[in-house]
Amino acid sequence: MAAADHRLLALKAFDGTKAGVKGLVDAGVTAVPSIFHHQPDHRHRHFTVPVIDLSAVSSGRAAVVAQVKAAAETVGFFQVVNHGVPEGAMSAMLSAVRSFNEEPVDAKAPYYTRDRGRRVRYQSNVDLFTSPAAQWRDTLFMEMPAEPQELPAACRGVAPEYAGLVQERLGRTLLGMLSEALGLRHGYLEEEQRCLEGVSVAGHYYPACPEPELTLGTIGHSDTTFFTVLLQDAVGGLQVLVEDDEDREQSAWADVPPAAGALVVNVGDFLQLMSNGRFKSVEHRVVANSVGPRVSVACFFRPAGAASSTRVLAPIVSDGDGGGARYRSTTLQELIRQHYRVKGQRARHLSARPLQALNLIQNVSLLDRFQINRWSFHMLFSAPSVPLPTEF
Ligand code: OGA
Ligand code: NI
Repeated sequence: MAAADHRLLALKAFDGTKAGVKGLVDAGVTAVPSIFHHQPDHRHRHFTVPVIDLSAVSSGRAAVVAQVKAAAETVGFFQVVNHGVPEGAMSAMLSAVRSFNEEPVDAKAPYYTRDRGRRVRYQSNVDLFTSPAAQWRDTLFMEMPAEPQELPAACRGVAPEYAGLVQERLGRTLLGMLSEALGLRHGYLEEEQRCLEGVSVAGHYYPACPEPELTLGTIGHSDTTFFTVLLQDAVGGLQVLVEDDEDREQSAWADVPPAAGALVVNVGDFLQLMSNGRFKSVEHRVVANSVGPRVSVACFFRPAGAASSTRVLAPIVSDGDGGGARYRSTTLQELIRQHYRVKGQRARHLSARPLQALNLIQNVSLLDRFQINRWSFHMLFSAPSVPLPTEF
């Protein structure tokens, strides 16, 4: 049988257990199965992702906005403390995700699905059948608002409450500051662009891994969101790709270490496009770990379901140099489709010719595909003829 057929059978068998990576670990695997093998990429560097204290917003707003702006324009990641989401709600959310994942397979199996029409989905690897290598992680995905009966009991009360707090207390504050950082009025991204309207919650469970160097918890990716708020427990493993401005070949992964009480914020692809490239949606990943489980909870700010197919995104400000639109407008759905295509292509190149491909491919971002004047698109789409104003 051809290797590809073997692989497909192995993927189907794994998916058919509905028990995820947790099921493998419970069954006592001591070696990482080959469907999970990734090409190693050990490029590592030290870089401190800024920690921004939001308690200073009321007294020294301009300084905090300046910090948010600087982070959004460079590394695309920052941590926030004193953000208004109570620590009790954070720890309850982490415990709920852990409890769900540690329930018996029979209790979780009814939620295991690849049907994107379902608003609550438990699965191991959203892209299991399209990605060249699987990741050492299981996920409970919940689109909000969810009816209580749709949610597994472990998350029923906790998840909507947590998502609501992140949305109302932190999301609104962040969007206000990000609007100002773009030179727009405070309420612009929330009210005119409706960036706060949709939120979905992904509860990730990364079991301890017997051979962590062979696989990854989450492959390098950028987020298809306006922005993401991530809660991680104390285990660690999140890394962000930091570019060296002088020498792009020196890009390397830097740790985003857990900080007590902090939430991690990162700019997503939608906001990079809307900000005309001023804000950066940067790749990040999670390394596998012999220590575990690691639990994290991502709140993705993006419209869900039908809204995403029709929603059009376009640059709303001039680029940082006062120029016109760098990106063509696109629907959310198209952006998401391209996202998975680029991710798959990149990973395939990496596994075929890792060293040669690494520097070439790694630096091609998804949004490059939406850049105006690139040969792939300029035949189909043309740049808006009206130059965009710097401010609205
Ligand atoms: C994500 C993500 C990181 C983590 O869900 O998009 O990047 O730490 N998660 O789980
Ligand atoms: Ni992410």
